[in-house]
Amino acid sequence: MTVADWLAKAEKFLDEREVPEARASAEFLMGEVLGVGRAGAAARGYQDLSEKQGHRFWRWVKERGRRLPLAYILGWQPFLGLRIEVTRDGLIPRPETEELVLECVRLVEASRAPAPKIVEIGTGTGCIAIALAQLIPSATVFATDVSDQALALAQKNAVALHSHQRIRFVREDLFSGRPGLRGWADLLVSNPPYIPTGDLDDLEPEVLMEPRLALDGGKDGLVAVRAIVAAAPKMLKPGGFLALEIESRQGPALSKLLHSSGFQGVLIKQDASGRDRIAVGRLAEDA
Ligand SMILES: C[S@@+](CC[C@H](N)C(=O)[O-])C[C@H]1O[C@@H](n2cnc3c(N)ncnc32)[C@H](O)[C@@H]1O
Repeated sequence: MTVADWLAKAEKFLDEREVPEARASAEFLMGEVLGVGRAGAAARGYQDLSEKQGHRFWRWVKERGRRLPLAYILGWQPFLGLRIEVTRDGLIPRPETEELVLECVRLVEASRAPAPKIVEIGTGTGCIAIALAQLIPSATVFATDVSDQALALAQKNAVALHSHQRIRFVREDLFSGRPGLRGWADLLVSNPPYIPTGDLDDLEPEVLMEPRLALDGGKDGLVAVRAIVAAAPKMLKPGGFLALEIESRQGPALSKLLHSSGFQGVLIKQDASGRDRIAVGRLAEDA
C-alpha cells in the first residue's frame, strides 16, 4: 500500500471514531513514521510503506482512535520552536502559553534587571522555564512542581535543550504557604491549574487524558491562583512582576484579586480571538 492509501484508510478509521481533524492527525502520524513531517508525508502519496512502517503507523492510528492526544503518541510537542518531550506525566504545552512566555520576555525587558531572576510555579514539562532561559540568556530560573514525575520530565527536557545549568527544578507544593525563595524574583510566572472542577467532565476526551493535577483549579477554578497571588509578594522583589495564564472567564476576578493584593499596573490581556488569557501585575516599589 502507498502512503496515499494508508492516509485514506486512516482518515476513514478516525472519522468513524469522531476524532477531530482526522486527516491532519493521520498526516502528522505518517510524517513521524517517515521522518519527514506532516507536509512531507502529504507530498509522498506515491511512496510505498515498508511492512514495519505500516505496522507502526497503524498502531499509532489506533491509539489516536482511542482519543489519545497526538502529542502523547508522537512523544513531543513544539513550543516556541523547541521540541518539548511530553508524556502523560505532564500537560501538553499550548499555544496560549507561548503568548504567556512572550509577555514575560517583555516584562523582564521592562524590569531592566541585568541578571533577571525568574520563578515558575507548576512547571510540568518545563516548557515555560526552558523557553525563558533560552530567550533571556542572562536569566536564572527556579521552577517548581508538586509532581515528581513532571519534575523528572522537565529536567530531562532542560538537559536535552541545553538549559539545565540555568534552571533549578524543585519539588514544592504551592499550597504549603512556605515559598522557597524570599524577595528573590524579578518575575513570578505560572500557568496554574485553573479549570473549575465542575467543568472537567465536559472537556474533550483528549484533555481528560492529561494529568488532572494540571487541570483542576477547584470549585471556582481559582484555588491555585489565589494561593499563588498570596505567595507572590513574599517571593518578588519590590517592583517585581507577576504573570499568570488564566481561563477566559477569570479576567474580572483576577483584576480585583491583584489590585487587592498590592499589585499595580494590573493588565488583563486577550488572545488573538479576544478572550482574556493573561493577567499581569507589578508589586509596588515600596512593598
Ligand atoms: C496547567 S499545568 C502547567 C504546566 C506547564 N507549566 C505548562 O504551561 O504547560 C499546571 C502545573 O501545576 C502543577 N501543580 C498542580 N498542583 C500543584 C501544587 N499544589 N503545587 C505545585 N505545583 C502544582 C501540576 O503538576 C502541573 O504541572
